[in-house]
Amino acid sequence: MPILCIILVLMLSSASSISCCTEHERNCLLQFLAGLSQDGGLAASWRHGTGCCSWEGITCGSMKNEGEVAAVTDVLLGAKKLQGSISPALGSLPGLLRLNLSHNSLSGSLPSEIMSSGSIVILDVSFNGLAGVPTTTGSRLKRRPLQVLNISSNQFAGEFPWWDDGDTTMANLIALNASNNSFTAQMPVAPLCGGASPSLALLDLSHNQFTGEVSPALAGCSMLKVLRVGMNNLSGTLPAELFEATSLEHLSLANNGLQGELGGAHMAKLINLVTLDLGGNSFHGEIPESIGQLKNLEMLSLGNNNMSGNLPPSLGNCTSLITIDLKFNNFSGDLGKVDFSTLRNLKTLDLLQNSFSGVLPESIYSCSNLTALRLSVNPIHGEISSRIGNLRHLSFLSLTENSLRDIAKAFRALKSSRNLTTLLIGRNFWGEPMPQDEAIESFESIRYLSIYHCSLIGNIPLWLSKLKNLESLDLSNNQLTGAMPSWINSLSNLFYLDLSNNSLTGQIPATLTEMPMLKLDDYEAHLTRQFDLPVYFVGIARQYRTVTSLPALLNFRANIFTGVIPPKIGELKALTRLDFSSNQLQGEIPPSICNLTNLQMLDLSINHLIGPIPEGLNKLNFLSELNISNNDLEGPIPTGGQMSTFSSSSFGGNPKLCGSILAKYCDPVEAVPTVPDISENEYGGKVISAVAFGVFFGIGVLYDQLVLSSYFCPK
Ligand SMILES: *[C@@H]1O[C@H](CO)[C@@H](O)[C@H](O)[C@H]1NC(C)=O
Ligand SMILES: *[C@@H]1O[C@H](CO)[C@@H](O)[C@H](O)[C@H]1NC(C)=O
Ligand SMILES: *[C@@H]1O[C@H](CO)[C@@H](O)[C@H](O)[C@H]1NC(C)=O
Ligand SMILES: *[C@@H]1O[C@H](CO)[C@@H](O)[C@H](O)[C@H]1NC(C)=O
Ligand SMILES: *[C@@H]1O[C@H](CO)[C@@H](O)[C@H](O)[C@H]1NC(C)=O
Ligand SMILES: *[C@@H]1O[C@H](CO)[C@@H](O)[C@H](O)[C@H]1NC(C)=O
Ligand SMILES: *[C@@H]1O[C@H](CO)[C@@H](O)[C@H](O)[C@H]1NC(C)=O
Ligand SMILES: *[C@@H]1O[C@H](CO)[C@@H](O)[C@H](O)[C@H]1NC(C)=O
Ligand SMILES: *[C@@H]1O[C@H](CO)[C@@H](O)[C@H](O)[C@H]1NC(C)=O
Ligand SMILES: *[C@@H]1O[C@H](CO)[C@@H](O)[C@H](O)[C@H]1NC(C)=O
Ligand SMILES: *[C@@H]1O[C@H](CO)[C@@H](O)[C@H](O)[C@H]1NC(C)=O
Ligand SMILES: *[C@@H]1O[C@H](CO)[C@@H](O)[C@H](O)[C@H]1NC(C)=O
Repeated sequence: MPILCIILVLMLSSASSISCCTEHERNCLLQFLAGLSQDGGLAASWRHGTGCCSWEGITCGSMKNEGEVAAVTDVLLGAKKLQGSISPALGSLPGLLRLNLSHNSLSGSLPSEIMSSGSIVILDVSFNGLAGVPTTTGSRLKRRPLQVLNISSNQFAGEFPWWDDGDTTMANLIALNASNNSFTAQMPVAPLCGGASPSLALLDLSHNQFTGEVSPALAGCSMLKVLRVGMNNLSGTLPAELFEATSLEHLSLANNGLQGELGGAHMAKLINLVTLDLGGNSFHGEIPESIGQLKNLEMLSLGNNNMSGNLPPSLGNCTSLITIDLKFNNFSGDLGKVDFSTLRNLKTLDLLQNSFSGVLPESIYSCSNLTALRLSVNPIHGEISSRIGNLRHLSFLSLTENSLRDIAKAFRALKSSRNLTTLLIGRNFWGEPMPQDEAIESFESIRYLSIYHCSLIGNIPLWLSKLKNLESLDLSNNQLTGAMPSWINSLSNLFYLDLSNNSLTGQIPATLTEMPMLKLDDYEAHLTRQFDLPVYFVGIARQYRTVTSLPALLNFRANIFTGVIPPKIGELKALTRLDFSSNQLQGEIPPSICNLTNLQMLDLSINHLIGPIPEGLNKLNFLSELNISNNDLEGPIPTGGQMSTFSSSSFGGNPKLCGSILAKYCDPVEAVPTVPDISENEYGGKVISAVAFGVFFGIGVLYDQLVLSSYFCPK
């Protein structure tokens, strides 16, 4: 019995697929195939003499229009590695409902015959290399069936072809995604939903170059649920009409030049909002009290604006909130008075760089789903409560540049946050002792630890050696004393180590050159983790979103290290930045340093290094910053390679060095003929004073004076 059924089903299905495909349809499809320069293997299946309903990517259905023999309803060729142009012939498939060519490498224009098709309902050409402006042809008064148009992530450019009032071409449009192109022009002037596209529910124009104001054309968009126009060049204030679109669930206008205040009466109308993203604009004023009425709000993103005032207590009514991002504003008030305890779903709270005061809010410890918490750069004081251990999911904690006390208590409290991977607590705990407690090793997941600029006293603690996942350690700007521990090579993932500006003494241990991660040519391949939040470095206008974008670094600047640079330093092939400056290092620059072919920055200045500059430094092609000044190096500066790209300041303060960079020639016999050269160009003015010296001291010292004058009169 079951076998019979299967046979029957097979017969039926094959019967329906043989019968339908017309000659016209087959020709249309073959014309499309002919326009491709790479067909991704389609030709093997799309052959003459076979019914096109069985071709790869083609689906046939029952006849749509009576009297018309048409079968092909779907052409679904997403991600088939297609290249070449799109044939207009696809627009004349009479029964085509869905055309999906997304994620290919198609180029040329989007034929207007397809845009104006009398049958296509869903058109997706996203993620290709299409250019020009997509236009329609034929009568502007004819209602086309198109409901979904996805032309995002292409290279379309120029004025967006808005359909004006009398135009009914797009009368059925529900979703339009034109994001990630280079469209220019203003937002439409004519009513969009009230006129051309009354059913519009999704409009995504983000990542383009739209200018002007958010247009009042949105009035009457009663069906609009998603509006995204972020990453454009919009200006002006938000029009009242925007707030008539009361179905809006996702509103993103981030990264434009918008300004004004968020009116409370307006805000309360968008009762269905789930996402509100207005970050990266110039909004000012307070968060309106009425925000509390947005019961569905999951994401509130107002970062990088100019907003101020206290957080409204009603924020606690937005119990669906998952993400709050208010970073880089001027919000103020006692954070301890804000009640976060009702925000049970909160996962991310980012208040970086505001003017919040008071103590760490106790209520935050009730948000047990919290994974990322950043309160850095706010004048918050007090201690970290032991209740922070409630935050079992906490993975990212940044309290940098608050005024917290008692680092030992903080560490004890954080012990139970076993998922903590990023802990940034620098610029707090001023002058306290570095906790030496062995039990702290339970930070087992920590990958990124920064306790910089705390003026902590004591040694580098042994418990650090237990943090086997540690990738990045910043203990700079403290008052740590004692030796650099030789267990440093047991931190097998460490590739960023900053110990600068401490008072560490003794020799740099030879085990340093055995740090496993830094020995790898491809250490970046071993790191994939993203930070939960983009990390900002104070003073550097740079943000690191991923660990891999941190440099492979050893920074021991400004300590009291003695002895020699470990001869095997050349084994740390991954190093991109090496700074041993301002110590008391002796001996020669080890030649192996020339094996650090990834090096971009090398600073060995202000030490007692002697001997020659290794010739091989010339081959470090990525080296863009070099400072070996103020040592006791001698001999010629290597020429004809990377060394020639640096100025004299890289080498100064080494009286025994010579070379044309220092205008101090190594071989006086060769040097004499070059003197006229110099007087003819840039040194012209200075030569006069040098010549005056020459009159007194004779021609034999002229050369030395030239050198001197270029020291004393730096350009
Ligand atoms: C088109 O196909 C891609 C897969 O290649 C899919 O992700 C996308 O959702 C499809 N588009 C539509 C409108 O269904
Ligand atoms: C294009 O947009 C439509 C409508 O939003 C969507 O269904 C489709 O999945 C999108 N295509 C891709 C490749 O994401
Ligand atoms: C529009 O398309 C882009 C990809 O090109 C996608 O990232 C974005 O999520 C889409 N917008 C909406 C609202 O679906
Ligand atoms: C923008 O489009 C380019 C090219 O199609 C694509 O590689 C990139 O991922 C897109 N960006 C986004 C945010 O969708
Ligand atoms: C953005 O608009 C301003 C004027 O509003 C203009 O000066 C600026 O050049 C525009 N930027 C881009 C990238 O179009
Ligand atoms: C930010 O707001 C203050 C007043 O609250 C104003 O003085 C200042 O000019 C604004 N800054 C910007 C960049 O808009
Ligand atoms: C909203 O918050 C206010 C102030 O916190 C409170 O008085 C009010 O009862 C809350 N309303 C609702 C509906 O929860
Ligand atoms: C931030 O707000 C405070 C008042 O709360 C004000 O005194 C201060 O000037 C503001 N700072 C900036 C940079 O606007
Ligand atoms: C944490 O979030 C999950 C959904 O991600 C939710 O089911 C759960 O109730 C939340 N926890 C609490 C304590 O509310
Ligand atoms: C800790 O992190 C791991 C891996 O990311 C995850 O599987 C686990 O659920 C997390 N545990 C908690 C309590 O969040
Ligand atoms: C060195 O660190 C101390 C704190 O221990 C700090 O006060 C000082 O400013 C730092 N010096 C430099 C040059 O950064
Ligand atoms: C540089 O590395 C190669 C092998 O990687 C090694 O043979 C050579 O001795 C090293 N050079 C120096 C100066 O250490």
